[in-house]
Amino acid sequence: MTQDELKQAVGRAALKYVVEGEIVGVGTGSTANCFIDALAGMKDRIKGAVASSEATRKRLEGHGIPVFDLNDVSDIPVYVDGADEITVEMHMIKGGGGAQTREKIVAAVARQFVCIADGSKLVPVLGKFPLPVEVIPMARAQVARELARLGGSPVLREGFVTDNGNLILDVHGLEIVDPVGLETRIDQIVGVVTNGLFARRPADVCLLGTATGVQTLGRE
Ligand code: 5RP
Repeated sequence: MTQDELKQAVGRAALKYVVEGEIVGVGTGSTANCFIDALAGMKDRIKGAVASSEATRKRLEGHGIPVFDLNDVSDIPVYVDGADEITVEMHMIKGGGGAQTREKIVAAVARQFVCIADGSKLVPVLGKFPLPVEVIPMARAQVARELARLGGSPVLREGFVTDNGNLILDVHGLEIVDPVGLETRIDQIVGVVTNGLFARRPADVCLLGTATGVQTLGRE
């Protein structure tokens, strides 16, 4: 199976977590896109979706799936999204697509977080994938100095502006042995909007696409 086929397989597998008649939270990225395409097949059985990015909103609307503003929604039974790295503890690095702030907000509202990923995303320790940190533009240099003090090497994502009008620093060289602690520490830096560690609110379930089929990690 190709990596694209693995992503399509987990996108389809996530449909069983979608609650009929309700709103589903939808993540961002190529794996989330596979889920959106699969979701189109049951669009008449859901109330609609909340999108974690403008790209996702456009793809959902392209399929005729109603997209709700999060402020008009109080209950999201399930949020489905990809990850750049995930551990067996369900801690993740996200934000390869620069959407981690809205992803984290939608995930915070959702009762269940279903992560969908191809098997290459499962790692023993987070950090080989550079950690994306969204920053207020005027704080970019100061936040970069603070991140360097934490042992990382921040690199500005050139030519990229988030859906919120901010910048991304990709932090290289971290070996993240305490994801909850580091997520909390980075969030305390003035000028940081959100960092791409999803450890305080980990995934509940991970559907991993492998050559032998879709494996399920975590509690269903
Ligand atoms: C976007 C994300 C994505 O979920 C993450 O980058 C994985 O993307 P892909 O499914 O394309 O590998 O966090 O901000």
